[in-house]
Amino acid sequence: MSVQAEDVFKKVISHAKEYGFVFQSSEIYDGLSAVYDYGQLGAELKNNIKQYWWKSMVQMHENIVGIDSAIFMHPTTWKASGHVDAFNDPLIDNKDSKKRYRADVLVEDHIEKIRTKVDKEVEKAANRFGESFDADMFKQTNPRVMGYLDKITAIEDRMRTCLENGDLADFKQLIIDEEISDPISGTKNWTDVRQFNLMFSTEMGSVAEGSNKIYLRPETAQGIFVNFLNVQKSGRMKIPFGIAQIGKAFRNEIVARQFIFRMREFEQMEMQFFVKPGTEMEWYESWKNERMAWHMSLGMTADQYRFHDHIKLAHYANAAADIEFKFPFGFKELEGIHSRTDFDLKQHEEHSGKKLQYFDPEENKNYVPYVVETSIGLDRMFLAILSYAYQEETLEDGSERVVLRIPAKLAPYKVAVLPLTKKDGLPEKAREVIDGLKEDFMCQYDEKDAIGRRYRRQDAIGTPFAVTVDHQTLEDNTVTIRERDSMQQDRVAIADLEGIIRRKLKG
Ligand code: GAP
Repeated sequence: MSVQAEDVFKKVISHAKEYGFVFQSSEIYDGLSAVYDYGQLGAELKNNIKQYWWKSMVQMHENIVGIDSAIFMHPTTWKASGHVDAFNDPLIDNKDSKKRYRADVLVEDHIEKIRTKVDKEVEKAANRFGESFDADMFKQTNPRVMGYLDKITAIEDRMRTCLENGDLADFKQLIIDEEISDPISGTKNWTDVRQFNLMFSTEMGSVAEGSNKIYLRPETAQGIFVNFLNVQKSGRMKIPFGIAQIGKAFRNEIVARQFIFRMREFEQMEMQFFVKPGTEMEWYESWKNERMAWHMSLGMTADQYRFHDHIKLAHYANAAADIEFKFPFGFKELEGIHSRTDFDLKQHEEHSGKKLQYFDPEENKNYVPYVVETSIGLDRMFLAILSYAYQEETLEDGSERVVLRIPAKLAPYKVAVLPLTKKDGLPEKAREVIDGLKEDFMCQYDEKDAIGRRYRRQDAIGTPFAVTVDHQTLEDNTVTIRERDSMQQDRVAIADLEGIIRRKLKG
């Protein structure tokens, strides 16, 4: 991470704490690593993201329904899903810094550095050749760039082979051959690569009765798979159809860093889409596009996002891509779209001895459906929005403001109602205005300090609209409405406020 990006990221983290978005869990006991609490504004933002996702996935799709399954599941679920045997991370320690890393992340970061060199070459050439420059042609013909790209392919191929064959010795050799050094100690003094299972376990039942090891779910998806027939039958669902769910997941992440990006307790918004075998690739492409369109609908710019096809496919997938977001620390996974084949349902059939099949009336036969999954981390989406929204601006009059340009429909508070002064009946009038709005929108009342400072406070928490009640309000029942981003103010009738805000939020 560049010094500038690191600085921005630190500011986002301290802003999140200062204004009540995110706190370290159990902070008074010095915190618990990679576990976070959401404060009063964070909880609102998180709820708004959930609602926006649920609405677009469930409410807007006739053939998708939502469920809420338990975190604890029968332990055989995780044997069947492959998580007991295969949900591992390859880890490596640096003997000098004593820091532990995911070996694949070290290699991916190394690849990213080579990619940056490619980008720099392309940028230099684009400046040299001007408008006639063809970036694709340049990449295919420039010997230095071709060398970099070949190197990336060779590293990716070798890493994939290591992971597929479980060849951890060669994985270490790859790190040595590529001369990858520890970002902290700067040395290449590495231990061997080892596999580490990421599931948390606990025990159910009292010891006297004989206890059972159970796991805290590492993904919400399995709660959907085991309920596939329950939902299909009770909801009379016809293939293709989807089941969506939002809920907590737990992973004993070893390399837990970057604030709420990688947590040990986090939330997922997942949807499993059940399709006729043979049609899964069409649906996979379709869901890739639809999910990207969802992100675009929030108004963040297209250059913030990119697709990244997986090199190492999870044990259940025949195709997988990430939607990556440009966080302050670089492009990283925000959402995964996976073609999971019939792996999970077949495994559950085998381990439970129960059929998990669909009778297709058009085909007049039973089959195990194939599944295309979309899976987005709620906390990562939160971080994406917060880090994109955080901006420091110098205004025309030379003053400065910090503004959170959170998409208006997701903002914690939609409207601030501010009496210009604390006297002359303005606070009472402002309360009346709030009373007329609070059933429809999250509103905040603020009368402390000069109006300019109050606007700044609302900018800093991302409130899109500030309504000011002044002396003219008492005469003609009009107020000013100020927009956070443009800071433009218009005078409008109180009676029109609700409609105006509603229209602006929709737009
Ligand atoms: N059911 C598929 C699945 O769980 P995944 O790629 O392991 O796939 C899906 O996780 C999403 O969950 C990721 O794209 C990411 O946004 C989020 N996620 C995964 N691990 C996380 C962690 N430790 N902390 C926060 N979010 C996480």
